[in-house]
Amino acid sequence: MDEDELKELIARELTAVRGRSLALTTDVLDDGELTAQVSPLMSPLVWDLAHVGNYEELWLLRAAAGAEPLRPEIDGLYDAFEHPRATRPSLPLLAPREARAYVGSVRSRVLDSLSSVRFVPEDPLTAGGFVYGMVVQHEHQHDETMLATHQLRPGAPALLDPDVPADRPEPAPAEVLVAAGPFTMGTSDDPWAYDNERPAHTVDLPAYFMDTVPVTNGAYLAFMEAGGYDHDRWWSAAGRQWLHSSGSRAPGFWSSEGGQWLRRRFGRVEPVPPDEPVQHVCWYEADAYARWAGKRLPTEAEWEKAARWDPAAQRSRRYPWGEAYDPGLANLGQRRLRPSPAGSHPAGASAYGVRQLVGDVWEWTSSDFDGYPGFTSFPYKEYSEVFFGPGHKVLRGGSWATDPSASRGTFRNWDLPIRRQIFAGFRCVRDV
Ligand code: AVJ
Ligand code: FE
Repeated sequence: MDEDELKELIARELTAVRGRSLALTTDVLDDGELTAQVSPLMSPLVWDLAHVGNYEELWLLRAAAGAEPLRPEIDGLYDAFEHPRATRPSLPLLAPREARAYVGSVRSRVLDSLSSVRFVPEDPLTAGGFVYGMVVQHEHQHDETMLATHQLRPGAPALLDPDVPADRPEPAPAEVLVAAGPFTMGTSDDPWAYDNERPAHTVDLPAYFMDTVPVTNGAYLAFMEAGGYDHDRWWSAAGRQWLHSSGSRAPGFWSSEGGQWLRRRFGRVEPVPPDEPVQHVCWYEADAYARWAGKRLPTEAEWEKAARWDPAAQRSRRYPWGEAYDPGLANLGQRRLRPSPAGSHPAGASAYGVRQLVGDVWEWTSSDFDGYPGFTSFPYKEYSEVFFGPGHKVLRGGSWATDPSASRGTFRNWDLPIRRQIFAGFRCVRDV
């Protein structure tokens, strides 16, 4: 792709993600709901909207194009580290109309400056359009966060299920063997990869069996019915603490009525579908289920080897199925407001025959979030590095709400092990 084609692609991606951000914040909710806080875990939606515009201004106008600040007085309001989420509603935030005007004026300046910005191969910020890819992915990540806010809000439904054809799951073996041996983890040449995905390095793993599909609601219900939440033996020490302080007895958004399990999904209450991957479980619940099942959560390396390694070609792929994104092979990009049933997308399986690794639900791994050997923070340490350490667990694969631009076999997400508002589930592995 030459530079002009790359710039056309960037302009299309920027336009597409803005359409998504506006669809989550305009017309669907009134100004009161946009400025309210539905949970101390989340920002008011209007904060997310202005924050993505401010981030875009900092990186694409000031850093990449050398422009003067448009509204320097608002920078502090939208700095995620200056104000914790719980305090954001009390800030003098831009009102919804002002926020839309601000993000619009940033965007029109970005598109104007795009033709004159040079992508310099020796400059890691602009090489391959990196900083533009970073801004596209950032906005999509906030859109997924805004969907979590939509899911948490009480009241009448605001988002409607799109009318898309049903997936056709096909039977799969329960698990597959991933033979012992080395594979290439991470990437050194994906132009829009984040610092935490770099550099590519070899990891040698013993053999393991991996589940071909994520754990379903039905399987999770069996754990609940076997007294999973009642027996301390399945829970780690920290998990027991979470269990007793939260009082949780089921995944987030579930309720039981007349002996039937229901869930609230974007304001509608419906029976829990048994064949869908479980969502809204925290790391402690995933860890307890795996122990009950006689299995364990995969390490991050085990997840990535099963997803990317092609043993015949002796190389790692970008996606489980190959190098190129194909919308028919994974449930990504908010085409639905839910995961696809377990066993869907058989043609999107990895070389080992593992399905639904990318899309559907984020998958908890047993690993703490840390830098790979040779990690260097770029272009700022507040994206990844400040979160390294034992506090955060890695999630892999992306959910139905993740955009394809922010999903690939190397992409790493992370969160605290107590969190349930994200669109996360898990799958299990076991030793050979
Ligand atoms: C990578 C999803 C954990 O939302 O906290 C957004 C992404 N970083 N703005 C987050 C992010 C800065 C990040 N996660
Ligand atoms: Fe952000």
